[in-house]
Amino acid sequence: MTTPIYAWARLHELTGPQVHEILQARESVFIVEQHCPYQEADECDPHAWHMTGRINGKLACYVRVVEPGKRYPHPSIGRVLTTQEFRGTGLGRPMMQEAIRYTHQLYPGQPIQIGAQAHLVAFYNDVGFEQISDEYLEDGIAHILMLLRC
Ligand SMILES: CC(C)(COP(=O)(O)OP(=O)(O)OC[C@H]1O[C@@H](n2cnc3c(N)ncnc32)[C@H](O)[C@@H]1OP(=O)(O)O)[C@@H](O)C(=O)NCCC(=O)NCCS
Repeated sequence: MTTPIYAWARLHELTGPQVHEILQARESVFIVEQHCPYQEADECDPHAWHMTGRINGKLACYVRVVEPGKRYPHPSIGRVLTTQEFRGTGLGRPMMQEAIRYTHQLYPGQPIQIGAQAHLVAFYNDVGFEQISDEYLEDGIAHILMLLRC
């Protein structure tokens, strides 16, 4: 597996083409691929740090870290994706580890909360998250709340 080059930025620090690339990737995965009409670009985006991971200049993965008190009481990692070209090539766990590292740097000593698609519980367990809720439906997809304790 090639290690991506990770970069973190606030929304206002990104250029127009960078924002377009991120939203295109997110919509492509979460709306088109998952057949789910929902508000993709949302009110959390201005309150988030946006991470891109690039391989040979191409967008390979993306996550955002949302400030505590906006999506959940704790800082939160979301919109976790690898792009189709790089899906299933082993980027998932290292990408999450980078997101956790950065969130701990931003918010030392705080737990991290996620709303995970329920079928990915093992993926998030592997990087330290524990299930803290029953399944619930969000935009028609089964989710669970998970917490990484500090
Ligand atoms: C979730 C995601 C980011 C993982 O990235 P990836 O490129 O598949 O990651 P990896 O190749 O490193 O695989 C990591 C592990 O996740 C598991 N996994 C990936 N997709 C899965 C799925 N749909 N269901 C169950 N497990 C899955 C893999 O089996 C692998 O486990 P293994 O190493 O024990 O075999 C990617 O599948 C993705 O972008 N999915 C669509 C967007 C999404 O649903 N994001 C999560 C929102 S909560």
